[in-house]
Amino acid sequence: MAQTAPAPPGPPSAPVAPLEGDIRQDLRSTSIQAFREVRAETERRAAPLSAEDQAVQSMPDASPTKWHRAHTTWFFEQFLLAPHRDGYTPFDARFAFLFNSYYVAAGPRHARPKRGLITRPTSQEVAAYRAHVDAEVEKLIGDTPADRMREILRILEIGLNHEQQHQELMLTDILHVFAENPDFPAYDPAWRMPHAGARNASGFVDVAEGIRTIGHQTKGFCFDNEQPAHRALVGRVSVARGLVTNGDWLEFIADGGYERPELWLSDGWATVVAEGWTAPGYWRCVDDRLFAGTLAGLAPVDPALPVCHVSYYEADAFARWAGKHLPAEAEWEVAARGSELDAVFGTLWQWTRSAYLPYPGYQPETGALGEYNGKFMVNQMVLRGSSFATPRGHARVSYRNFFPPSARWQFTGLRLADFPA
Ligand SMILES: [Fe+2]
Repeated sequence: MAQTAPAPPGPPSAPVAPLEGDIRQDLRSTSIQAFREVRAETERRAAPLSAEDQAVQSMPDASPTKWHRAHTTWFFEQFLLAPHRDGYTPFDARFAFLFNSYYVAAGPRHARPKRGLITRPTSQEVAAYRAHVDAEVEKLIGDTPADRMREILRILEIGLNHEQQHQELMLTDILHVFAENPDFPAYDPAWRMPHAGARNASGFVDVAEGIRTIGHQTKGFCFDNEQPAHRALVGRVSVARGLVTNGDWLEFIADGGYERPELWLSDGWATVVAEGWTAPGYWRCVDDRLFAGTLAGLAPVDPALPVCHVSYYEADAFARWAGKHLPAEAEWEVAARGSELDAVFGTLWQWTRSAYLPYPGYQPETGALGEYNGKFMVNQMVLRGSSFATPRGHARVSYRNFFPPSARWQFTGLRLADFPA
């Protein structure tokens, strides 16, 4: 079943209480409850999919559902149980090789483009793996002496937020699988894009120039890439209240948007030519009618809905065509903190024109978890906000998502920025 409810900003699902003094029993109970909820959400998202659906890998960047279910489990086994549960024996010694994603410090791993060839373990065996690790993690939370709980809960929280990221990827990746099927099956026939523009989403919000603090500034959980909070110079800018719509995009196409190299970055135009792009990802022309591929299958392109499955290259070209630009991430964050924007969270991720770079003074996590974010800080662009597929409570105003500029299988859209007159 798809997530039809927007994911508002809010506290992360896992408890992040600063631990002082003895660990109280209710903190253990709350942690176990948060763990159960996140683990159950993964299975809920996998439930509509057959074993055949779950095994397929439709491109190197998209992973099979079964792999996501196993990899998120390995993460807890590798980073929580192995170092912290005395005498823990891995469920299956072969799984570390199969389900390690990119953690070089954690050991060798299977080739990413070949994840779809792992027909064994079966989906049922992965379910057993999940159940085993679930039980062990719950025992760990329940049994660990208070003086070791701070580190346990810290890793637990990273693991839960990691699994939530994969929950979104499960949907983007299965949509890519279904798009390869001529019938474009529905993941959830009842799915609908959350209504954006319910309140006044037209026009632009002015951001006054000044030195602003951006980055994570509260006590709740954040990833290392959101820190440290720091000052940034933000010039005068106005940021669109709403997201660019399919209707806007149809005008761009009608005006030769995909045929005019002067609108495109050099790499972007090369991609348009190489990939034969003429419209956003998953758009299909059937009997002279335009359809968009969605989690509900093919649906007529609705001009009122925000445009989805556009790459950074396309977002940048559209902005140039419109005589505007994409907001830098600091501009986006300052505008979003001002609460006057529509569809900030829970609709579509929004491309910014900012390269994904470390903030001044950035410190990665220690050990293998330091590979989580920091080593990807090149050749990627930042996206802000969250999408309808982002688990509830996972995103926040300082959250930095990132993808290569050609990626468009994620739930990505854009809002424009302009220089005030
Ligand atoms: Fe991962």
